Amino acid sequence: MRFLVTAGPTREPIDPVRYISNRSSGKMGYAIAEAALEAGHEVILISGPVKLDPPRDAKFVSVSASDEMFDAVHRHADQSDVCILCAAVADYKSAKVSPVKIKKRAGNLSLELVPTRDILDSLGRGQNRRFLLVGFAAETNDVEENAVQKLRAKNCDIIVANDARLGMEGDENELIILFRDSEMRKISRASKKILAHELVKIFSEFATKTFDKKNVMITERN
Ligand code: C5P
Repeated sequence: MRFLVTAGPTREPIDPVRYISNRSSGKMGYAIAEAALEAGHEVILISGPVKLDPPRDAKFVSVSASDEMFDAVHRHADQSDVCILCAAVADYKSAKVSPVKIKKRAGNLSLELVPTRDILDSLGRGQNRRFLLVGFAAETNDVEENAVQKLRAKNCDIIVANDARLGMEGDENELIILFRDSEMRKISRASKKILAHELVKIFSEFATKTFDKKNVMITERN
């Protein structure tokens, strides 16, 4: 199967030297990309800036801002069987990007932020989608409830939920996997590498159940 994986944070520029970003390490997405390659799948990894080496056998697309990630994902999604959006895309970006470094002045400075485009949501809205769509939900509270809402709102097939405090930078994670038909599975705390192998198995089984060999939907989507 052909896997598309997004990973890492995005950087939303403010001026040529400053940006808005988050603590995402990219470890979960990179581990999924590696596990998918080990299982014999083709992988395209679309990554924001992280301190990790991309797996050698993956097609690698390096991006920075959410708009670049949006364009890269949309360029490749239709040629994929499974799209796993694991990146911690910034929710907001600066309304204006200054072409020159903003000078320090006395007093406060306000920055107007506008929402970024939601990549997962945009794929979920696509008509005749022929790939399995997996989203991630990093929450600090009410993990399960928020994940159920996200699954429905973004029209995904699977949402993988984790506690953001545990999952963002560390080597371990603990997952709740929610499926479109309301099935739920939990995977208790383990290294991201071990979790990634489990996830790849689950995604490829689910994709096989959902699509036949010609990549045509064989089960009804609700
Ligand atoms: O709504 P929230 O940001 O918590 O949703 C997380 C999921 O949505 C992740 O799968 C993330 O990759 C995706 N996302 C996205 N584009 C955004 C924000 C989130 O694809 N602008």
